[in-house]
Amino acid sequence: MTEQDLAGRTALVTGSTSGIGEATAKQLAKHGAHVIVVGRRQELGDGVVAAIRAADGKADYVRAELSDAASARELAKRALETSGGQIDILINNAGTAVFGPTAETLEENWEMMFNTNLKGHFFLVAELAPKMAARGKGVIVNTSTMVGQFAVPGMAVYGATKAALNLLTKSWAAEFGPAGVRVNAVSPGTTSTRKVVDAMGDGLDELGKQAPLGYVADASEIADAIVYLTTDKSSYITGTILNVDGGRTAI
Ligand SMILES: NC(=O)c1ccc[n+]([C@@H]2O[C@H](COP(=O)([O-])OP(=O)(O)OC[C@H]3O[C@@H](n4cnc5c(N)ncnc54)[C@H](OP(=O)(O)O)[C@@H]3O)[C@@H](O)[C@H]2O)c1
Repeated sequence: MTEQDLAGRTALVTGSTSGIGEATAKQLAKHGAHVIVVGRRQELGDGVVAAIRAADGKADYVRAELSDAASARELAKRALETSGGQIDILINNAGTAVFGPTAETLEENWEMMFNTNLKGHFFLVAELAPKMAARGKGVIVNTSTMVGQFAVPGMAVYGATKAALNLLTKSWAAEFGPAGVRVNAVSPGTTSTRKVVDAMGDGLDELGKQAPLGYVADASEIADAIVYLTTDKSSYITGTILNVDGGRTAI
């Protein structure tokens, strides 16, 4: 039985219809949080909520496209209505990536990556962090990536969005820390989520071998780190980019 150390808290997890976000939503619920599951794919969102409820957890689904200030404000409004007026934990996890050479990068893909990975989350924080600050307590965790810290040809734009997210993490930690709000990021290595498995095929294991631990992470291993950063066990940690990459950025 997991410790109910998040009982009474509400957690909004963007991009929790699948992958790392889904695993995080399920674990937060096991820790006792009321989880707001978010994403565009309603059927998957409903499925995550049903699984959490079947395990005696508390969850609701809010369908949302996250791409700009207006969509972030709308999501914040609906999440606050659903939660009863308070979000204690915000996980900025929704993300998208289109890889390819710089010269072949379409402007629409540049915008999609910057809007989803960065702009939507920026304005979601703008809506929710001041409310946390007014209460003197709150936690934000951003899902970054190891390729926000080193160069991989073909991943320039995706990496740039996450490098910017890393700096936003530190900036928000500095801005909201004095009011009791902690802001951190996890920086995953290659993780076995459906999209990555489909895209990489047999190449996935090879990518896993590039890390000292030598394997591809399960989404639950990333979720473990995210949940840790939401609990009071990490009470003195803020402004940190926590590498959860099997040691890939150590070499
Ligand atoms: N898997 C990896 O190897 C890896 C490594 C490092 C970092 N990451 C990061 O981890 C996070 C989760 O990725 P994942 O691997 O778990 O992939 P995933 O299963 O594809 O999850 C992405 C999530 O983001 C949501 N999303 C995407 N675009 C959206 C939009 N415009 N509006 C609202 N929601 C949107 C998706 O929901 P809907 O499609 O339902 O909208 C989905 O729930 C991402 O930020 C990714 O960059 C992944």
